[in-house]
Amino acid sequence: MKLNTEKLLMIPGPTMVPNEVLNTMALPIIGHRTADYGALLEDTVDKMKKVFQTKYDAHLITGSGTAAMDMAISNTVDKGDKVLNIVNGNFGDRFYKIANTYKANTMLLDNEWGDMADVEKVKETLEENPDTKVVTIVHNETSTGVKNPIEEIGKVVKDHDAIYIVDTVSSLGGDYVDVDKFNIDICVTGSQKCIAAPPGMAAISVNDKAWEVINKTETKSFYLDIKAYQKKWESSKETPYTPSVSMTYAMNKALEIVLDEGLETRFKRHDKFAEATRAGLEAMGIELFAKERARSVTVTSALYPEGISDKDFRGTLNNDYDVLVAGGQAHLKGKIFRVGHMGSVKEHHILGTLALIEAGLKKLGYDAGCGVDVAKDYLL
Ligand SMILES: Cc1ncc(COP(=O)(O)O)c(C=O)c1O
Repeated sequence: MKLNTEKLLMIPGPTMVPNEVLNTMALPIIGHRTADYGALLEDTVDKMKKVFQTKYDAHLITGSGTAAMDMAISNTVDKGDKVLNIVNGNFGDRFYKIANTYKANTMLLDNEWGDMADVEKVKETLEENPDTKVVTIVHNETSTGVKNPIEEIGKVVKDHDAIYIVDTVSSLGGDYVDVDKFNIDICVTGSQKCIAAPPGMAAISVNDKAWEVINKTETKSFYLDIKAYQKKWESSKETPYTPSVSMTYAMNKALEIVLDEGLETRFKRHDKFAEATRAGLEAMGIELFAKERARSVTVTSALYPEGISDKDFRGTLNNDYDVLVAGGQAHLKGKIFRVGHMGSVKEHHILGTLALIEAGLKKLGYDAGCGVDVAKDYLL
């Protein structure tokens, strides 16, 4: 079988993985119940906690980001519990679906897709429903290229009994997240986005307020029972089931790279690349989809110009230029495209992608002008 592995991944995950990280996956497999693996896991969890910016507990899960979302809900929600799901995109909706799977009494706080969640509405809903047990939100709504005000909402939730669950799958390690400062009780993330490791591992942080709830909640999942993870961790620094040893190597190295770059520097780099991408696309006459006040720094969403189809545009970029960008999801399919600029992305990826977007559009009959010229000024 022949695969083309030379594509430029400008999708919002999985992202390009540095060779240093990939190379760790060629290391021999070690036993997962050995002191060596224990030391590796402890060091990786320690690094993960630094990136989460938490002094509380964290666990690594062999599985994708959704496994961590599922773990967060299945360990905190019993049948009939009131759950407030703040939704303004596909991944916020995923939390709502998971909560419904566990038969929660869900309250869907629907916000416009393309805009940020409304803090006042969250406040009102919690005041009207003081018995709310869990509040969920996605920090960086990858499906729309929107960033939600999780710090402000954290301040609101803090004054209530409810616990605050935040998905930072496409922001942690790229955009500013301080789990403890933002009053996040459970934070979930994935390996394959801003952390720039391969897909296959997720992480979850849990503070004392969350443990109080977890300890009173019936266990509903066997594989994702967080109490089993905690018990094994406390007794022997192990995971309850066989972890992906190779992914632990990769996460360790990827997190080391994140911390060596420095969180502040990394956030600034993502800001800069987001600004360059937005400016470049706008200079081509392309309208950005997310409202200005709500734009993500890790993924940019844009509306297709009149007459340009999703199939032709992304097909041309992929087949002719080996560049992958993402399309829209749910009702935004065919209407928007999304450029991921997260993780290990560099200046030449940003400018190269913008140049090839221009070339692709020109090929399809839309004269986009020169967005690269404008974008490059943001990279100086
Ligand atoms: C914000 C967000 N949450 C959750 C997920 C789901 O993660 P996974 O596909 O790793 O299960 C994604 C994936 O794109 C995401 O972007």
